Amino acid sequence: MATTHNANMAKTSKFLLIWSQLIMQMVMNAEAQVSSIIVFGDSSVDAGNNNDINTAVKSNFRPYGRDFIGGKPTGRFSNGRLPTDFISEAFGIKPAIPAYLDKHYNISDFATGVCFASAGTGLDPLTSDIVSVLPLERQIHYFKEYQKQLKEYLGNKKAEKVLSDALYITSIGTNDFLENYYVRPKRVSEYSVDKYQDFLLNLTREFVKTLYQLGGRKILLAGLPPMGCLPLIRTVNIFTWGSCKEEYNQVAIEYNKKLEGLVRLLSKEFKEIEVVLTDSYNILEDIIKNPRNYDFEVAERACCGTGKFEVSYMCNQMTPTCYDTNKYVFWDAMHLTEKTNRILANNTFKTSLANFQNQKTNNIFRRM
Ligand SMILES: *[C@@H]1O[C@H](CO)[C@@H](O)[C@H](O)[C@H]1NC(C)=O
Ligand SMILES: *[C@@H]1O[C@H](CO)[C@@H](O)[C@H](O)[C@H]1NC(C)=O
Ligand SMILES: *[C@@H]1O[C@H](CO)[C@@H](O)[C@H](O)[C@H]1NC(C)=O
Repeated sequence: MATTHNANMAKTSKFLLIWSQLIMQMVMNAEAQVSSIIVFGDSSVDAGNNNDINTAVKSNFRPYGRDFIGGKPTGRFSNGRLPTDFISEAFGIKPAIPAYLDKHYNISDFATGVCFASAGTGLDPLTSDIVSVLPLERQIHYFKEYQKQLKEYLGNKKAEKVLSDALYITSIGTNDFLENYYVRPKRVSEYSVDKYQDFLLNLTREFVKTLYQLGGRKILLAGLPPMGCLPLIRTVNIFTWGSCKEEYNQVAIEYNKKLEGLVRLLSKEFKEIEVVLTDSYNILEDIIKNPRNYDFEVAERACCGTGKFEVSYMCNQMTPTCYDTNKYVFWDAMHLTEKTNRILANNTFKTSLANFQNQKTNNIFRRM
């Protein structure tokens, strides 16, 4: 009796095992591989679109890019790669996502990932006006142009598949506060901080809707960083000089909370799309408060120059830089080093993007 029972049990469990393996396989096949990454936003993700436009917000000169592939200053605001580049590599696509306006690349490169972001821009159209960079609307315009090229290059059917399988990453909003709301009279006279956040979130909602209408299905939105701890903000924080401006950090925390609510709403409203949030606030705050836990030594000033105010043209060939970039959280007074970018990308890849991965994903972070 007992033996028959055991034999049956064994048969049943073997049967279940085969079934569960089969089901796993089906689930994995249903989840199409992310084969392309399309980027919108500001300097946190700009791969060099500003090089070719008439603005003072640029970084296509040394020491920017000194640790990039080939030591090339591309217009990325860092010594090396950006979080989006690492995410692209982690999905097994390519190690860096080229800028759409970069003449060295064409549609055959852009088919597996393209960046429309522009340093200095914001959700609020007024923000991009202040520093003459690409407003989000212009980024969408280029995206539409890109879609036409992609359809000519791959044919309609294949292009549509690429566009719906693509991961759309948007990182924007810091400049709306730092370049615009807190330093210009217009918006602050029109909105309270709370209402300005709502205004920006309404624009985010419109933006996601536009992406959806243009065929986007997998969308990652980035929250705001601890803006009050950027070295430049510490420098201008006259009341408690050198420390983080807590008021700005509080604004970022509230904004991120509201953005999380918006992401939930959008997921309900548009059933066919998957919208996820990456909130790097906590991890970045932890790095800044406990740099040694991450093998950093300096978190309050940047690697370039005095580390207190140098950004863009102020950080140039003539500016002395730190000896070991990997000991610094910040590269210039507003932007992160490649090492910090890699940590943020790892974090996003393992949390927010977990649903978009399958067996083919080349997890470069495994060795981290
Ligand atoms: C893109 O550029 C490569 C190399 O520069 C070239 O071989 C290729 O023909 C170009 N493709 C298109 C579609 O223009
Ligand atoms: C945001 O949109 C909502 C709903 O459309 C509207 O009621 C609200 O007034 C908007 N808020 C701002 C600050 O624009
Ligand atoms: C990578 O991300 C995972 C999950 O968030 C975390 O446990 C791990 O410590 C991270 N590694 C590094 C080096 O940041």
